[in-house]
Amino acid sequence: MEKECKVARTGCIGTCSVGPAVLVEPGDYLYQSVTPDKVREIVRDHIVLGLPVKDMLYKNEAYFQKQHRLVLRNAGKIDPSRIQDYISAGGYSALAKCLATMTPQGVIYEVVTSGLRGRGGAGFPTGQKWSLVARSHNTPKYIVANLDEGDPGVFANRTLAEADPHAIIEGMLIAAYAIGAEKGYIYIRSEYPLAIQTLQKAIAQAKAMSLLGEKILETSFKFDLELRFGAGAFVAGEETAILASVEGRRAMPRPRPPYPANSGLWQKPTLIQNVETLANIPLIVQNGGHWFSKTGTPKCTGTKCFSLTGKISNPGLIEVPMGITLREVVFDIGGGVPDGKKFKAVLVGGPSGGCLPETLLEIPIDYDSLTKVGAIMGSGGIVVIDEDSCMVDTARFFTEFCVDESCGKCTPCRAGLARLKEVFDKITHGQGEMSDIATLEKSGVYIRDASLCGLGQTAPNPVITTLRYFKDEYVKHIVEKQCVAGKCFKTRDEEELE
Ligand SMILES: Cc1cc2nc3c(=O)[nH]c(=O)nc-3n(C[C@H](O)[C@H](O)[C@H](O)COP(=O)(O)O)c2cc1C
Repeated sequence: MEKECKVARTGCIGTCSVGPAVLVEPGDYLYQSVTPDKVREIVRDHIVLGLPVKDMLYKNEAYFQKQHRLVLRNAGKIDPSRIQDYISAGGYSALAKCLATMTPQGVIYEVVTSGLRGRGGAGFPTGQKWSLVARSHNTPKYIVANLDEGDPGVFANRTLAEADPHAIIEGMLIAAYAIGAEKGYIYIRSEYPLAIQTLQKAIAQAKAMSLLGEKILETSFKFDLELRFGAGAFVAGEETAILASVEGRRAMPRPRPPYPANSGLWQKPTLIQNVETLANIPLIVQNGGHWFSKTGTPKCTGTKCFSLTGKISNPGLIEVPMGITLREVVFDIGGGVPDGKKFKAVLVGGPSGGCLPETLLEIPIDYDSLTKVGAIMGSGGIVVIDEDSCMVDTARFFTEFCVDESCGKCTPCRAGLARLKEVFDKITHGQGEMSDIATLEKSGVYIRDASLCGLGQTAPNPVITTLRYFKDEYVKHIVEKQCVAGKCFKTRDEEELE
């Protein structure tokens, strides 16, 4: 009997540790670590005989059970290079609904009702930002989708663009309709070649189908979209730095106000939105803001994508409802720490996030709870740290990253972070004194409170939280000249050899 079977390349489904993965449908059979030989077996047994090859299937059901995939609804399921696949999965129907049946104010009403908050880190209410830009009479207006993602170890936005580029484009189109913009940019780092290629193809296809350009879906609505490339600086993802970069200047932040919503690109109202925020929009329009607000917590609705990395059994990209606990993410979805090692800490929020101990694993993941304990949502990085890591060295590492990435414009960030790094070098080379702890504490707070932009304002978080939750390790380094993990007290020669 002949069987027809379509083979498609998809984006990543998120199970990074067991790739390449193959999904066989119908039935959602996910095969892991697939090789050419295994493909032969899958085709012969599963496709031809209808008998799934059980021992090759992805067995970790817990990885998906606690996830709630809204933004990643199509990731790993559709071919991102075919607009037809997005459309047949319901894509662009939210845009059609907006243009045919909703006023711009009606769209904004749904986004406000949804409770959606920006997924780029700060958690600002999205509907409120749209209302601000929509109300302005200053024209033209612009939209920038932020896909800079400069945090080390974070790859959620890249994976989204590679797996479902049209979800971002449709979100931008709906935002443009709501606020009255005719031009948009996707700001993407140039180190993301596959995401760039995928987005370029998606934009070309959308243009060819009159979903971008003039007379979209045969209405008077027009919107044009271009990519702009960032050159690999963490600070370039900060919204005012993006404005400078898109305008052709060096990506350096400037003080706010004025906020981009009032005075952005070329002093015109500009809506800057993270791509994950935008990918939620078609669902909100299609199902209503009230529907969306039922997921997550009352103050923090919807879901959040996280790159789960570090010492974790199931690293990958996950999407979880807001309000899930850190313990559920690390132990139930992530499978805990591998090789029988002990969990020590989890860094939440990227390089300027907070290092939290096991006693705080019950806290729910939402903007406010994370801020209370010294962490941030950031753009969605969770790094698990085991007993083999030194918390002083971890804080030193992220401080060094922020020293390198500081743009140097404001003194607290430029000079203050460099000073922190000097103190860390002293402690980790065996010359620490107890007074250094107070210097780190005071300087950290000063840099946090006095810096110009979010980089300096959050860079001391790993320092402040390791001092708060792991002070004994600092004391051990200073008093006993001992590093519990054997990472510190290396000579310069040994460091260079590493
Ligand atoms: C140093 C720094 C880097 C940032 N990087 C990003 C980034 O890569 N992507 C992002 O969406 N937001 C980033 N942000 C936050 C943006 O400034 C801005 O708040 C966000 O793009 C707004 O979109 P949202 O409301 O959808 O979150 C960064 C902020 C700072 C201070």
